[in-house]
Amino acid sequence: MNVLVTGGAGYIGSVVVEELVRARHSAIVLDDLSSGHRDAVPPLAYLVKGSIGDPESLGQAFQAKSIDCVIHLAAKSGVAESMARPDLYEQVNVTQGTFLLDTMRAHGVTDLVFSSSAAVYDPSAPMPLTESSPLRPSNPYGETKLRFERILEERAATGGIRYVALRYFNVAGASIDRGEDHRGETHLIPLLLDAARGAREPVPIYGSDYPTRDGTAIRDYIHVVDVAEAHVRAIRYLADGGENRALNLGAGQGVSVREVIAAVETVTGRRVPTVPAPRRQGDPPALIASSDAARRVLGWSPQFEGLNVILETAWGWRVRHPEGYKE
Ligand SMILES: NC(=O)c1ccc[n+]([C@@H]2O[C@H](COP(=O)([O-])OP(=O)(O)OC[C@H]3O[C@@H](n4cnc5c(N)ncnc54)[C@H](O)[C@@H]3O)[C@@H](O)[C@H]2O)c1
Repeated sequence: MNVLVTGGAGYIGSVVVEELVRARHSAIVLDDLSSGHRDAVPPLAYLVKGSIGDPESLGQAFQAKSIDCVIHLAAKSGVAESMARPDLYEQVNVTQGTFLLDTMRAHGVTDLVFSSSAAVYDPSAPMPLTESSPLRPSNPYGETKLRFERILEERAATGGIRYVALRYFNVAGASIDRGEDHRGETHLIPLLLDAARGAREPVPIYGSDYPTRDGTAIRDYIHVVDVAEAHVRAIRYLADGGENRALNLGAGQGVSVREVIAAVETVTGRRVPTVPAPRRQGDPPALIASSDAARRVLGWSPQFEGLNVILETAWGWRVRHPEGYKE
């Protein structure tokens, strides 16, 4: 298939492109490089540098090849930034995303795999979260993801689109050649690895008074290659006539911030400097996935099991790329 991947120069998108190429699909990447990297795009993919909100760039991407389906990862994705700049999140994640859908329609493309998030759920719901758990985002980032899912639902109801929304939990780890390199990083694992290398200040632990087993926030970490592989299965599922739906992608295990720190110290053999900090607004105490539906519907199951395996791959990539991507 010819697959248009928006955000394919980003952390997860570049690994999705790797997996597409491995499965003999052809990938066209549309990315404005606002947080992605030209060097992250696998050599066999074709990169159009531009925004999903820009008609010319979208036109170029849709005309590069006859597109069979779209994997839409391009987004603003910082929880804290979304609290400070909700309008920006609305514009990129909803308005520009809707423009992408309009452009798909104009080009007769119906199938879409969308990067949604655990942030759509009500964090006070019982864990693990299933796709039918209550939806109530606790920050503007999650609200924009949920609103875009609703738009997909509406358009699917009138037959304009066919979609799978993949609700990722905390994506982490690296492939051999591609890893996480965000300027102004906010994700816990790359921050801890850099602190372990002595390449940054002590890492703030936001909140040690949560109602969890050790007082720190609990998350479900899933390997980026496993997440990427689910996309390859999802485009095949849609091509085979699968139903419109949302699917969780997580490991099904909650790990606390303190447990992640201890595991980073074990894997790297180094001490990680940290500093206590107040809770961040919009950060829920715990998010844990049930991914039974993805297993059943896509025949997917995580291959990189356990936090240590995730950390070993992330650490290996960081040691090989201490400065991240060149461009
Ligand atoms: N990282 C996680 O744990 C996680 C969890 C849940 C959901 N997600 C979602 O997965 C997707 C990818 O996340 P990521 O961690 O790889 O982030 P990322 O920032 O590395 O990737 C996003 C990519 O989209 C590009 N982009 C942003 N706005 C654009 C625009 N208007 N037009 C074209 N390109 C644009 C960026 O340059 C970047 O390459 C996002 O939609 C995010 O919300 C990520």
